[in-house]
Amino acid sequence: MRKWLGIAGLVGAIVGAAVLGAAPAQAEDLTPLGKWMKANIGKYTPAAYDSSNPDNKAALDKLKAAFDVLASNPPSDGSNYPDWVKSAQAGSAAAASGDVAGIKKACNGCHGANNVFKKKYKAEHASDAAPPNP
Ligand code: HEC
Repeated sequence: MRKWLGIAGLVGAIVGAAVLGAAPAQAEDLTPLGKWMKANIGKYTPAAYDSSNPDNKAALDKLKAAFDVLASNPPSDGSNYPDWVKSAQAGSAAAASGDVAGIKKACNGCHGANNVFKKKYKAEHASDAAPPNP
């Protein structure tokens, strides 16, 4: 019994350390756009779409609105992000038609292969204001 409690305590400590270690770093890492993404895009991105589920439909409406805001708010140096507007527009169209694969494709188009554009944005636009609320 003693031994088991000891192991449980150890596992708890490891998990706790991992959570403590990860959470603050992530929050600091996000740009204003990154926080906006989580709240307006990530939150409403479905894993799958069921057109008979009104919650799914409502989430996609929110997602479409967020993509539309992104499409009209490229970074100040828009030329450095050639797929920004195109990806946001494609995401909007995919959200309107419940095309989950198309939505994911739009995310990847803008984030770039291996998140290259996401990293570039973080390096160059860390202090840019977030887009307006959808
Ligand atoms: C118009 C361009 C664009 C589109 C489209 C886009 N993103 Fe982003 N996203 C970015 C950029 C640039 C960042 C980097 C900002 C940051 O992380 O601080 C980012 C960051 C994020 C973040 C926060 C950082 C992280 O890695 O956790 C999340 C979550 C996110 N995007 C989710 C999505 C999802 C899901 C989609 C598709 C449904 C999507 N984005 C579509 C440009 C875009």
